[in-house]
Formats: sequence, C-alpha cells, structure tokens
Amino acid sequence: MNRTAADPTSTVSEPARLDVHRTEADADEALRADARHGLTATPKELPPKWFYDARGSELFELITELPEYYPTRTERALLEESADAIAKASGADTIVELGSGSSAKTRLLLDAFARAGTLRRYVPQDVSEAALEGALEALGREYPDVELQGVVGDFTRDLDRLPRGGRRMIAFLGGTIGNLLPADRRQFLQLVRDVLEPGEQLLLGTGLVIDPATVVAAYDDAQGVTAEFNRNVLHVLNRELGADFDPAAFAHVALWDAENEWIEMRLRAERAMTVRVDALDLTVEFAEGEEMRTEISAKFRPAGIREMLGEVGFAVSEFWSDPEERFGLSLATAL
Ligand code: AVJ
Repeated sequence: MNRTAADPTSTVSEPARLDVHRTEADADEALRADARHGLTATPKELPPKWFYDARGSELFELITELPEYYPTRTERALLEESADAIAKASGADTIVELGSGSSAKTRLLLDAFARAGTLRRYVPQDVSEAALEGALEALGREYPDVELQGVVGDFTRDLDRLPRGGRRMIAFLGGTIGNLLPADRRQFLQLVRDVLEPGEQLLLGTGLVIDPATVVAAYDDAQGVTAEFNRNVLHVLNRELGADFDPAAFAHVALWDAENEWIEMRLRAERAMTVRVDALDLTVEFAEGEEMRTEISAKFRPAGIREMLGEVGFAVSEFWSDPEERFGLSLATAL
C-alpha cells in the first residue's frame, strides 16, 4: 500500500481514522539531512528527535520513572489537579494532541473534557504510526462516543494538515517545546498559531526555571539511564546510516546553561576517533574530548512564556503550576 501525503488512507477500522503524512522514506531522508548537517557543523550537533527509535522510546519511559526525573510526574500530577479547570476554561470540542505517543496523559484531559460535556473529537498526532495505532485501538474502546482521528506526522512540519472545524484546542505537553532551539521554537509556535482560527486554543506544557542542581540531576541520573538514552542516537546512526560509531567511547554530559536557561546534553569523545557514515559517504573526525550537542531542554519563566506566545499572536488566558513551581501549563487563545 502506498500511503503518501497526497493520498492518506485509513488503516484503522471505523470510527478511528489514521492519516499518514509521513512515511519511513520521509523519516530516512530527514535523518540523512540532519546527520550530514550536524556531523559536518562546528561544533557538531545532532537533533534530539533521533533518540526515539524503539529502544530510545523504551529508555525515555524508564527515564520518566527515575527518582531524579521530576518533569513527567510533575506534569501528570498538575494535569490531575487542573484538568477540570482546563476543560472549563477551554470549552473546546476537539483536542488535538501533538506528539501524543501512547496517549497516556491524554486520558486525564479526555475525561475532564467529557465531564465538562464538550468533547466530540480527539486528534492524536505522532511520528510513530505504531504508537498511534495502539493508542487509537485502546481509546476507541474506552471512548466510544468520541470521534478519533489519528495523524501520523512531524509536528514541526505537518501542522497544516490537521483536520479543521469544531472548536479546537491543540495540546503540546511534556515540555517538548523546550527541545527546540529559539528560532525553531518561534517558527513552530507561529505555525501552530497560523493553523488556528481566532478563539481556538493552545495548551502548552513547559518545564520551569528551578534550581540548577535539581535540573542537572534530572538529566544525569545516578543509574545512567539518561546516559544510555543519549548514546542511543549513535546506535540509531549506526543502524540507519551504516555508521560505525563506538557508543561506549562517548561520555554523557549534562550541563546547565545559565544564560539561555536550558539544560544541554552532549556526547564527549573520550579518545580521538574517525567515524565512517556509509549512507552519507562521509568520514567524520572527533578529537579527544570533543563534545557534540544532542539536546537542549529549555526551562521557562511565566513572563517568558507570555512573551513567547504573545509574539506569535496568542494571549495566555490561564496558567497552572505545581506547588514547587517546577512545571507549567499555559492555556493560550489565538487572537
Ligand atoms: C520530555 C521529551 C521533553 O527534555 O526532558 C529526558 C526528553 N531528555 N531526558 C526533556 C529527555 C533527557 C525530554 N522531553
């Protein structure tokens, strides 16, 4: 079956629909472009989106259970606490969730919007077709009265293909906005604003600026799970691009950038290395001690969130945070 952007076809039985806008070939092309660009840049860098193959997604799930990694459980508790208030303040009949994954946190929102009596449709969007299929199947059983429409796509590129109509709230949770560099972040938020009609909404989850030691520990856990997650990107390049990285020769580095207010993950070459990337016909030299950035995870302040959203045409109408003010949920309305 040839499912392309021009010809999205349904792969899940009614009433759920699954539109595929991104195929394996698209992902492969994007990975090649990112790897070629990042490995030939100075300093070298790789975008964090390539952490998440099956093993990387598994490692991320393990991270969310680590004692040091507070963001996921903090956001979940905050959602549990505020979902009814969010539903009441929103009044949306359609929840669009970007990067929904297995839609675990989603049920909190769906239940609250169902209780409020407004929920008609749920549109989960994710790069992983497998994750979406699984989620849609379960959700179809649990929410028989909700119209489900999955969208396989890249949230930084395929937003214009989201279904229109209804009164939509786009949910972008998990603090993933922090993984985008400022220019990409702005471009992404502008895209989100542009697909919405005035009055429609964005629910944005953001990690907040807290004491640096707590953040660093969350990204450099004692068990080394985050280190393994970080090195996983090299396994992805080895498998997908025929590279010959020795992941064990790279050390995990997590440091707080006080000026940018983001945590940065890097991989440090522990010896000089020559790495071959067959699929790119590329040879890459690493000096001993050379560091390659693999992720930023920006933390925000409430005023900064208002400003960032205001710049692209949103007004923040409500803001919720946990008692320790580690994580924030902003409900913003398109102007
Ligand atoms: C939850 C995907 C946004 O930045 O905290 C976890 C991923 N990176 N540990 C984050 C992540 C390192 C992450 N996101």
